[in-house]
Amino acid sequence: MIELGLAEVADAVGGTLTGPDAQVTGKVTVDSRTAGPGDLYVALPGERVDGNDFIGAAVASGAAGALGTRPADGHPVVVVEDPVAALGRLAHAVHERLPGLTTVGITGSSGKTSTKDLLGQVLAAAGPTVSPPGSFNNDIGLPLTVLSADTGTRYLVLEMGARGIGHIARLCGVARPDVGVVLNVGSAHLGEFGSPEAIATAKGELAEAATGTAVLNADDPRVRAMASRTAARVLLTGTAEDADVRAADVALDADARASFTLHAAGEAHPVRLQVVGAHQVANALSAAGAALAAGLAPAQVAAGLSAATVQSRWRMEVTRRPDGVVVVNDAYNANPESMRAALAALQGMTGTRRVAVLGAMGELGPGADDEHHRLGVDAAAAVDLVVAVGRDAAGIAAAREESVHVPDRAAARQLLAEVLRPGDVVLVKASRAQGLELLAADLLEDGGTA
Ligand SMILES: Nc1ncnc2c1ncn2[C@@H]1O[C@H](COP(=O)(O)OP(=O)(O)O)[C@@H](O)[C@H]1O
Ligand SMILES: [Mg+2]
Repeated sequence: MIELGLAEVADAVGGTLTGPDAQVTGKVTVDSRTAGPGDLYVALPGERVDGNDFIGAAVASGAAGALGTRPADGHPVVVVEDPVAALGRLAHAVHERLPGLTTVGITGSSGKTSTKDLLGQVLAAAGPTVSPPGSFNNDIGLPLTVLSADTGTRYLVLEMGARGIGHIARLCGVARPDVGVVLNVGSAHLGEFGSPEAIATAKGELAEAATGTAVLNADDPRVRAMASRTAARVLLTGTAEDADVRAADVALDADARASFTLHAAGEAHPVRLQVVGAHQVANALSAAGAALAAGLAPAQVAAGLSAATVQSRWRMEVTRRPDGVVVVNDAYNANPESMRAALAALQGMTGTRRVAVLGAMGELGPGADDEHHRLGVDAAAAVDLVVAVGRDAAGIAAAREESVHVPDRAAARQLLAEVLRPGDVVLVKASRAQGLELLAADLLEDGGTA
């Protein structure tokens, strides 16, 4: 973070400094165990523990002070009512003091993290960039990301998630983006939103908030329509003829990695992605649009995309076991669209047999049973064997007689140990709550990799 006194922090967040003033010279953290010299520890109310109880420990580790809901034994504490809201206000104040920064916000139902990671790598070649691996896309993660920028930072890439109307607008209130990127409107969190229209309304808040450029996916009608909701310049991306940033000649290699010609600003440059799956073309074009809006040249963007690798765990992580079985760990999360994107990638990969090991998709609302059935039908048509894991995934296997259902991770591991042969490619994917990345790790261990 930029250097601030605790009295200034109190001022920025509308809190009261108790204890002595001190200078924050380090980072901002919500985990007292990571607090070090000069840091600001933000004490959050947890479900099991109260962060306020660890203020003493954070200060003992050298923290300059804390943000909390009550004074703590005379330690320097900025006392506020709502520490999460205060974290947002602090991030806002710091963001306002970084005028040289170009801020990009990214939202969409699927591909936010993948696109952030592509863009972060493209921008990093042009200047100091903050774009942390992982999914820091909520009211805590986004401010923390903003607060990790300082006066040396040139580009700030922010992932923005939403579980309801107004969420993205609130995140944009923390750090107003110069460039707003909307990827797609799918069915992630459909249960909470109620309808795709509501999801479009929520995602479009980013287009509304963007001050400079709205980068919109021309191939998704609900995203394209957001052009009418923004006063910013609109940059359309996609394979559509009228897209400003367009991919032509898209081809997949034997490992389902895409190459294409990037057309932008009257220039054409070859791109050869290292990340896996045809769905990465759309993500790459969105990242390209944002990088161009941030002032990079098309050749620089094409080179950056071609050099970019997977940054965040459990997203199409491809590992070849010593015995020749290929494990594709895409177990970070899942919804109907991302399941199909991953299945399409699996289908495009060279191998003797393709095996899809799938767990349940969460938060789909009343249509969940139908969605699991439809996925089961499509998966069975796309691959050689479908293994559904866990009680909530039974519908995936029930859709086709030849598909197999196993109750849990251990049973899946046992079955796959018997079934898998050298040359097979096995995809592992489910919603976050299913924790199937552990099964992917089991499979690597069984093949002698991990
Ligand atoms: N553009 C896309 N369209 C459909 N599915 C995608 C897209 N990009 C990524 N995915 C799928 O969604 C999963 C989650 O990707 P991620 O980038 O983490 O998205 P998010 O951050 O939006 O949750 C990936 O593992 C992949 O299966
Ligand atoms: Mg994410």
